[in-house]
Amino acid sequence: MFLHQPVLREKVVDYLRPVLGEGSVVIDATVGSGGHAEALLRAGADRLIAVDRDPEALRRARQRLAEWGDRVTYVHEDFRHILKIALSHAPLGLVDAVLVDLGISMDQLKDPSRGFSFEQEGPLDMRMNPWDAETAERIVNQRSFEELVRIFREYGEEPRAEAVARAIVEARKREPITTTTQLAEIVRSVVRRRGRTDPATRVFMALRIAVNRELEGLDVFFVDAFHVLRVGGRLAVLAYHSLEDRVVKRIFHRLALPCRCEPQVGVCVCEGQPLGRVLTPKPERPDRAEVRQNPASRSARLRVIEKLAPVRFRDLVYREPKPRVSWPGGTG
Ligand SMILES: C[S@@+](CC[C@H](N)C(=O)[O-])C[C@H]1O[C@@H](n2cnc3c(N)ncnc32)[C@H](O)[C@@H]1O
Repeated sequence: MFLHQPVLREKVVDYLRPVLGEGSVVIDATVGSGGHAEALLRAGADRLIAVDRDPEALRRARQRLAEWGDRVTYVHEDFRHILKIALSHAPLGLVDAVLVDLGISMDQLKDPSRGFSFEQEGPLDMRMNPWDAETAERIVNQRSFEELVRIFREYGEEPRAEAVARAIVEARKREPITTTTQLAEIVRSVVRRRGRTDPATRVFMALRIAVNRELEGLDVFFVDAFHVLRVGGRLAVLAYHSLEDRVVKRIFHRLALPCRCEPQVGVCVCEGQPLGRVLTPKPERPDRAEVRQNPASRSARLRVIEKLAPVRFRDLVYREPKPRVSWPGGTG
């Protein structure tokens, strides 16, 4: 019934198990088709706050998790509002665990009416939340050549970004590009097939990231997700894109530093105690058997952090430290 297979499910549960049990509250920030959520409830999560920005995903999750009745609260929201979500649905706004499984689910990908896939004809939509204004069709038909190149290069790491953008700009002069198959054909006319991967893969991924602003504000979100944990709570993140994983790694590293103060402040205001302990010095990856059974899992990386102390100065964690101030004319 559900096409999506939860990635690294057993590992996710093993890392979160120590904080589950009676009275525990878990936020699944990307509940999708509810696969991880179901496993967490079976492992002892007492209450689960199931968040997704896609109402159709929430409907599927509700179906799958029906047996847990009112122990599950469904929230149609962007996870970047996690502070508000926790304050509205968790006692004192604090929870025992947060799970974030980034990207989209197979159930979204395989539904032609959503426009995520080039395998079947569908509208060029790609919105996770159908109430958002931006669609892939608008981006493809309205953005400048330069902006398209940036999207394909930055989000898709497409080596032929310029050629693809040029082909799109030429094609849209003749007629608007409105379907997934139309766009895939344009991309295939300028990008050669590499092995078994369809040439349109990177461009479609890049557009999906742009439509849903998937990389925007992720650093602040991870600090906020850490913020809503009680001391001892755990945050687990599954990332499938190197740009996302880099943000997770950097934020977790900063949370685990003994001091996060800016050098020019001169004194330590963070009290020199690490806020967190990274439980995955190396990210967990799916093994060969999982990749064989679920090829979509191949790029997954799971990182988990445990909270040791409350975050007092959120800015100190997610901002890059500024370079040291050098005083004009000073010698030291
Ligand atoms: C990989 S799927 C999650 C699958 C889920 N763990 C399962 O086992 O079925 C990612 C889900 O996150 C949702 N999502 C992505 N970005 C989001 C955001 N910013 N806020 C809320 N949900 C988001 C997507 O709509 C999708 O349903």
